[in-house]
Amino acid sequence: MNKFKNVYVVNHPLCCHNLSIIRDKNTSAEVFRNAIRRITYLLFYKATEDLELEDIKIETPLETCNAQKLSTKKEVIIAPILRAGLIFSDIANDIMPFATVRHIGMYRDEETLTPIWYYNKIPIEFENPNDKIILILDPMLATGNSAIDSIKLFINKGVPEQNIRFVSLISAPEGLENVQQNYPNIKIITAHIDDRLNEHGYICPGLGDAGDRIFNTVEN
Ligand code: URA
Repeated sequence: MNKFKNVYVVNHPLCCHNLSIIRDKNTSAEVFRNAIRRITYLLFYKATEDLELEDIKIETPLETCNAQKLSTKKEVIIAPILRAGLIFSDIANDIMPFATVRHIGMYRDEETLTPIWYYNKIPIEFENPNDKIILILDPMLATGNSAIDSIKLFINKGVPEQNIRFVSLISAPEGLENVQQNYPNIKIITAHIDDRLNEHGYICPGLGDAGDRIFNTVEN
């Protein structure tokens, strides 16, 4: 249980174990990436648990049986925020090969902590926005400003809040508060809610800069 409505913390022993690996500043980029990948499967188990199914009949080699498959009426859109979100989208793509991937390019202005867009090829209008399920991916939900901007992008195209999920590895309470004040019905799936943000907008205790650690660009 946590104090935030619509925030699901995947408090699984394997998440806790792998979080301890990625938080360690001495963990190499390779081990860091692999531990995140293991957590990602657990996050997506939760993030996709309410995808719609439809009943079908199939022939096994022995007889006809009733089965269920994902509804073809819904389009799943995976939206990783560049660049750290790419680590999630690899796995998301693997377990949902039918999904569409729409990249969101934004970086954080280190002074104002506001997002600056640099890449957005998402169609201006969506046909049948009610039938889109959006999974926005960013390992670190810090101030919540990039989350809000990316959620707004889909809301402005007519996608209902209920159809949007935000998947993060670690979240700051300040960011969760910010997102929920703006979009109370967005579901957020995370592996941990940390203590606080520091004065530079980094999550504490956190794990440092996720993108730098994933792509091995940490400067000492
Ligand atoms: N982005 C990161 O990579 N780490 C933080 O702690 C905050 C934002």
